[in-house]
Amino acid sequence: MEPFRHHLFVCTQEKPEGVTSCPASGSLPVLQALHRELDAQGLSQEVQVTTCGCLGLCDDGPMMITYPEGVWYRGVKAGDVPEIVAHLRAGKVLSRDEIAEAALGRPVGPLDRSIDTQVSRLL
Ligand code: FES
Repeated sequence: MEPFRHHLFVCTQEKPEGVTSCPASGSLPVLQALHRELDAQGLSQEVQVTTCGCLGLCDDGPMMITYPEGVWYRGVKAGDVPEIVAHLRAGKVLSRDEIAEAALGRPVGPLDRSIDTQVSRLL
């Protein structure tokens, strides 16, 4: 078996009711979406997904880290997963413009501020 190329850590730290946490913000649907997307893209042997405890940025959750890049994602939603997997497939950290261009299917223009704001959640 080949070693995996990427390792993702998704925070699933449970906290008492009423305390901000990644699961309360939706990290479990993100985890499920990651497994689905990696399977669909044939990347589940190359990308290891591991749940982890609190990363200390609970108010910005769901939190996720990718290695070897060391990129911290905050406020991740299940709908962000295709862009994140695109990042992994590219094997590099994508800039906001590159991710936005992938989402738009064309170069980013001056009127794309709302897209850029949405994508900034990922970086
Ligand atoms: S609960 Fe996820 S960062 Fe604290």
